[in-house]
Amino acid sequence: MKRLIAIVIASAFAIAAHAQNQRSENVLKDWEFRKGHDIEATTGWEAVKVPHDWAIYGPFDKANDLQTVAVEQNGEKVATEKTGRTGGLPYMGKGAYRRALEINAGELDGRRHILLFDGAMSEAQVFVNGKKVCFWPYGYNSFHCDVTEQLQAGKNDIAVLLENRPQSSRWYPGAGLYRKVRHITLPAIHIPIWGTYVTTPYINNDYATVCIKTKVAGVEDDTAVTLVTRIKDANGKKVAEHLYTAPIHGGEMTQNLTVEDPELWSPENPALYYAETEVYTGGAIKTAWNMERPEISIRHGSVLQDKVTTRFGFRTIEIIPDKGFFLNGKCRKFRGVCLHHDLGPLGAAVNKAAIRRQLTMLKDMGCDAIRTSHNMPAEELIKLCDEMGFMVMCENFDEWDIAKCENGYHRFFNLDSGNGMIWAERDMLNMLHHFRNNASVVMWSIGNEVPSQWKPEGRKVAAWLQDICHREDSTRPVTCGMDQYNGVVINGFAEQLDIVGFNYKVDRYIPAYEILPQKIILGSETASTVSSRGIYHFPAKLGAAIMHDNHQSSSYDTEYCWWSNIPDNDFAADEDYPWCIGQFVWTGFDYLGEPSPYDTDAWPNHSSVFGIIDLASIPKDRYYLYRSQWNNQDATLHVLPHWNWEGREGQVTPVFVYTSYPSAELFVNGVSQGVRTFAKSDGKTPCLGENAMKRFRLMWNDVVYQPGELRVVAYDADGKIAAEKTVRTAGKAAEVKLIPDRSVLKADGEDLCYVNVSLVDKKGNPVPADNRLVKVKVSGAGAFKAIANGDPTCLESFQQPQMHLFSGQLTLLVQSGSTAGEIIVEVSAKGVKTARITLESK
Ligand code: GAL
Repeated sequence: MKRLIAIVIASAFAIAAHAQNQRSENVLKDWEFRKGHDIEATTGWEAVKVPHDWAIYGPFDKANDLQTVAVEQNGEKVATEKTGRTGGLPYMGKGAYRRALEINAGELDGRRHILLFDGAMSEAQVFVNGKKVCFWPYGYNSFHCDVTEQLQAGKNDIAVLLENRPQSSRWYPGAGLYRKVRHITLPAIHIPIWGTYVTTPYINNDYATVCIKTKVAGVEDDTAVTLVTRIKDANGKKVAEHLYTAPIHGGEMTQNLTVEDPELWSPENPALYYAETEVYTGGAIKTAWNMERPEISIRHGSVLQDKVTTRFGFRTIEIIPDKGFFLNGKCRKFRGVCLHHDLGPLGAAVNKAAIRRQLTMLKDMGCDAIRTSHNMPAEELIKLCDEMGFMVMCENFDEWDIAKCENGYHRFFNLDSGNGMIWAERDMLNMLHHFRNNASVVMWSIGNEVPSQWKPEGRKVAAWLQDICHREDSTRPVTCGMDQYNGVVINGFAEQLDIVGFNYKVDRYIPAYEILPQKIILGSETASTVSSRGIYHFPAKLGAAIMHDNHQSSSYDTEYCWWSNIPDNDFAADEDYPWCIGQFVWTGFDYLGEPSPYDTDAWPNHSSVFGIIDLASIPKDRYYLYRSQWNNQDATLHVLPHWNWEGREGQVTPVFVYTSYPSAELFVNGVSQGVRTFAKSDGKTPCLGENAMKRFRLMWNDVVYQPGELRVVAYDADGKIAAEKTVRTAGKAAEVKLIPDRSVLKADGEDLCYVNVSLVDKKGNPVPADNRLVKVKVSGAGAFKAIANGDPTCLESFQQPQMHLFSGQLTLLVQSGSTAGEIIVEVSAKGVKTARITLESK
């Protein structure tokens, strides 16, 4: 039989597909943009490239979306002025995009024309030749509209109207067509958008099964359809194939295949496979349907109608009570981070190179998982997670039907979407259908800290949303980020979820574990430690809601919010509780908006300090704390603070070391300050505060500052010297230093190089506290794209080629053009030597 199929499929290849049977995809990059909704306006249009974020150009202003509110989930009862809550950027208001779309008369021959939006912020109304073709309110979701009936041969006018209401978000949402827009043409008989669903029901070491459900549109029920599916590995080698002919019922057909020796997907080995599915109809099938010999139909005139490739992976996911989370049969804990969708100085406008840069840094930290907090992610992120190896908690909502923000998603949750479903269900379906084939997605989250948690009907809404996940995807567990411990543990909300996800509450994990039936706990959101890169406050005090006059949190990593904690407590929970399946830290990167604790009448703060990495993509000290615990491959030895403390001579200046080595010795100007080793667990749980710090940091709390040299020597388990690190007091700044993250870019007009800009003294020591203005010139085959320094109080534009350094550093983003060549980057600052580097774009 196998041989027969091979022959049949080979002959199927010989059938020439008619041109009209080929799908096409055209990314619509060039648009005109105008503020307001006046599509007829003849002036004021600006040519833009989509993805485009109209608000990131600023200017920053305290008045932008100034919210006078009581943030209930933070326990506030009285409304106060929340400055910078959504980033202080002008995202609110109306915006319009328009462009022409040329269609040949021949393309209106029965094929379908679809506009696919990966995300449009927000309340998108799409018009074709003046007629409204669709409306999609939720700015984070992908949606598509069939515009075939509105198209004409020749020029067509496409317009998109968007509106962002003030007080619609708790963070910077971005504005505009901030993700890709595509024009897709589908053959008359076709597999619809997101029309395949691949699962791998059985996997063992020797073989695995693949079940692929394929939707076919444009045919009547009972029409005979042939599906040919080939599975290929990442090298394009065919590893299985299957031909199936049958009269179609309900627009969907199922195929099952077996793959020998499957290579399993994991963060460490992100092996991917491809299912190529072809749809045939007609020929002998229609006229001479033959149950016994369906292959004849292919040989005798069946027509190839459509072809789609679905990428997937083989991996197993199990949640076992008391035992934990298992990927491919191995127990592991999520070493995850939460990410908001903005990309710092690029705003919300999606850029694959920028996301790759984020993931590369997180990978080096040892991170293996991402939570798409608190909304549907960009396709680019999920594809990169598939390829680079990150497990994803794919989340949808920050609000259900009860408001957190006056104009938030609750306005749409229960609203009839016009096709028999409320918007909540339609949004769920799009997310699930879009991402259910992605190997990286290992769980769904149906919401974040929704106020419905403590209402009796909240439990029912959660059950309904979880059921939709189970109905559309039987393979992944469902969670929800819960913060109302007292409500959810007793009111049934938590009890029914596949995975109990707690935001913070590390001190309540044990009772929750004891009470709830799942017998596992996930830290769906952890830490919310606050720190500003390179800023240290004395004394290094451990505590909640600590505020400083300069509006910067301490890089000693000892400050947090009243609802949160330091990273050490979560490390302890992961280590001490077998049933704790890991965590997603708030957050991997700083983001625009939510500048807690400087969020109440605290302008100019306008970006978060929760990030392990700052808004300029520069690691904070905390990065190395996580790296020391999470990166099992490479050693970490990091010392803090910097050692330029003019005026602190003779004063106590604590020194911390974040390391993967078991012990270390600190020397100040050659004088030993003693050896430190990590404390063992004292058996008391939960492990909180300083007790936890002693388990994960080496600390010399009584060091007296003298300028000179701080040297740390790390010892291995046998007490032998394993590594050394020295930090020196720098002299005056002498020159600019540039460190690009890569020297070769792709000449695709989109690639990015992140150049670290700092000052060094004449001996090459970094100068940590010189914040002078630097100016940038980029010439040749690339251009200046953006600039950021990570200072949450800095109101300088991300789009001007100059900025003040923050804690002695900033990041410059250089973008390739679409022709190959050299890119010359020059950065100057008053009083120091200019630096110049050459990058290659090809
Ligand atoms: C959580 C919330 C996040 C963020 C964080 C800050 O409660 O889920 O979105 O606001 O607090 O600590």
